[in-house]
Amino acid sequence: MRLLVTGGAGFIGSNFVRYILRTRPGYSILNLDKLTYAGNLENLSDVESNPHYRFHRGDICDVEAVEALLHEPVDGVVHFAAESHVDRSIADARDFIRTNIQGTHTLLDAARRARVPRFVHVSTDEVYGSLPSGKAAHEEWPLQPNSPYAASKAASDLLVRSFYQTYRFPAIIARASNNYGPRQFPEKLIPLMISNALEGRKLPVYGDGLNERDWVFVEDHCRAIDQVLHSGRPGEIYNIGFGRPVTNLEVVRSVLRILGKPEDMIEFVADRPGHDRRYALDTGKIERELGWRPEVDLEAGLVETVEWYCAHAEWIRKAKSGDYRAYYEKFYLNRSASLAQI
Ligand code: NAD
Ligand code: TYD
Repeated sequence: MRLLVTGGAGFIGSNFVRYILRTRPGYSILNLDKLTYAGNLENLSDVESNPHYRFHRGDICDVEAVEALLHEPVDGVVHFAAESHVDRSIADARDFIRTNIQGTHTLLDAARRARVPRFVHVSTDEVYGSLPSGKAAHEEWPLQPNSPYAASKAASDLLVRSFYQTYRFPAIIARASNNYGPRQFPEKLIPLMISNALEGRKLPVYGDGLNERDWVFVEDHCRAIDQVLHSGRPGEIYNIGFGRPVTNLEVVRSVLRILGKPEDMIEFVADRPGHDRRYALDTGKIERELGWRPEVDLEAGLVETVEWYCAHAEWIRKAKSGDYRAYYEKFYLNRSASLAQI
């Protein structure tokens, strides 16, 4: 298969690119990424000389660029590119509306015209909003997004749905819960807590810390996307999660315990506006239809994640300072790639 992956320089996208190159010999990937603050090509430094991989810097909102790329035949598109951080969407949602809604539309439209035979849209459990205690959202649960980020993802999901209903464009939606693992930008809960603890800073927990998230290890998510790509039914939605929501406080305490640091490093700070209390997913559909199940439990995944960050202090330093951009300038500036090259 020749795949176009969008957002492959980000956290989940880079793990997915590496997962496919490792597990599917003969597959080729063109990674289309704008390299916003969240795009870090060093995430893929170990595969950049792989002949089955190419990087192309571009914006999914750029109609001409996207159409030009899809001029060459491709067997599938896996769409990760997005603005992804809730707190940034609360500060200013413009980029979220542009990339997550307009960008998804641009990509869908170009892919439809190019008759791309498979399209996986990577979405989130946040589109369901906050779940009451004891409930878990199945795929037909009402969309009740509460942050501008979640609203922009819900809008993109509805566009994907409409392309299937209207044109029978073979798109599939994958809605995952909170991911964690190596190479996550240190603005999200787990890498922020690890890096602050390593630097001797306080760990800011919003509100009472009792909000619940269902953490899925990034590698499990990548394997699920791979299965959705190959065996998912067009027009369908698949939830992907671990199936055990835990409080933020439990997660932060586990991180401190693994690092051997004291709990008084936790500092309770003002709550996030509109902060969703609880996310919980019913993942029965993907288990029944595709046989997918998560393999990494939270404790083992946290140990692996903490160990990765401890071994990559320089990665954290560069991510926090913005120095990681030098990598692009050194190796990629003025270089482009196309599907014909993979
Ligand atoms: P990320 O923020 O780490 O990476 C996003 C990537 O998209 C970056 O490389 C960025 O440069 C690129 N990008 C942004 N705007 C672009 C544009 N206009 N054109 C081309 N590229 C652009 O995000 P992530 O955490 O890896 O999430 C990837 C996807 O998974 C997103 O769609 C997100 O909504 C979804 N998701 C994330 C989580 C999570 O916990 N991180 C959970 C469920 C779903
Ligand atoms: P985050 O990683 O931003 O993911 P999301 O908002 O998409 O779930 O946050 C996860 C949880 O951690 C969420 O309930 C907000 C909370 N949180 C903190 O308590 N402190 C922080 O500094 C951050 C970034 C998040």
